[in-house]
Amino acid sequence: MNFKPVQILSIGKAVPKTVITNDDLTKILDTSDEWISTRTGIKQRHIASGDENSTMLGVEASFDALKKANMEGIDTDAIIVASSNPYNIYPSTACAIQAQIGAKNAICFDITVACTGMIYALEIARSFISTGKYKNVLLVATDTNSKFLDWTDRASCVLFGDGAGSMILTESKDGVDDIIALNINADGNVGRFITMNLVGENCPLVEPNKEGIRKITMNGKEVYKFVVQTMPESIMKCLHDANLEPKDIDYLVPHQANLRIIEGLQSRLEFTNEQVVVNIDKYGNTSAASVPIALSEALEEGKIKTPSKAILCAFGAGMAWGTAIVRLREGLK
Ligand code: ACO
Repeated sequence: MNFKPVQILSIGKAVPKTVITNDDLTKILDTSDEWISTRTGIKQRHIASGDENSTMLGVEASFDALKKANMEGIDTDAIIVASSNPYNIYPSTACAIQAQIGAKNAICFDITVACTGMIYALEIARSFISTGKYKNVLLVATDTNSKFLDWTDRASCVLFGDGAGSMILTESKDGVDDIIALNINADGNVGRFITMNLVGENCPLVEPNKEGIRKITMNGKEVYKFVVQTMPESIMKCLHDANLEPKDIDYLVPHQANLRIIEGLQSRLEFTNEQVVVNIDKYGNTSAASVPIALSEALEEGKIKTPSKAILCAFGAGMAWGTAIVRLREGLK
């Protein structure tokens, strides 16, 4: 079989309008701007309010990417949504987005890989396009973490924000593949490090109902130790698979979970500050949306110049992690 190469057509994003600063959080938590910003790099985050939810943000991010690609919803053949806190489990967020963007030709499904969702979605889209079965694939990562946080747990709730990111991929017309290398990984043995249960309730005829826990829990120290080991390995493997060295790469667009983790990756790659995209200060950890939001914003603001090559990398609950080395074509928006 002749595998078809993939082209990245556009990147989009959407965030809720309400901004909560670290100082705002001191009204409900025993915390401080100094603690949060020195340990994490976060200064503020966008938080869903009113009827804003993962579907709405996903729709907005989809329209953003469609507009930049000069496409309509009807042009998409597949919609893959990465979300770990969707508005509905079903209908899937992808189906809800399909209806709202008028993408009636698209197949639709959701995946749950927490913060690594976009890297997994890229791998799935690449497989779809490379076999020739689907041509235009819309990827959406959308998370409203704020609805599932324990707002009394200062060790976790200060870290997250809400948002959505999107990407449109298509079959490359010039034979050049924009996904240069990619690896995705998982280790369920350490799944306890970050959890969000959807416990539900047993039938009342079987046993009395107890309240289900639907809150994010995280052992930050264990996540930190795990990530500083696995993430550089994944990046180095990706470079090795592509027969490239760090000096061959222009930018690092990492998952925005903790500035210290990002700085560790930066020094491992020996990258300058200009080569590393950081927006954790404005958005916090927006889970799967984190990498596409960072990439979209950096392109919009001219912090990433094209043509160029970038490493995208993410890690999170599962535990799952992954890296993609991508080509950002001239004029990519
Ligand atoms: N404000 C003030 N004090 C706090 C806060 C807060 N918001 N949170 C915790 N503390 C206190 C703790 O209670 C503790 O106090 P104690 O020493 O009196 O017990 C002290 O600060 C130190 O707490 P630690 O947990 O040891 O802090 P640490 O330096 O490890 O930083 C952090 C915590 C920022 C969470 C860090 O471990 C981290 O970033 N880990 C990685 C998290 C991550 O990357 N997650 C990504 C995946 S998310 C996903 O997939 C959904």
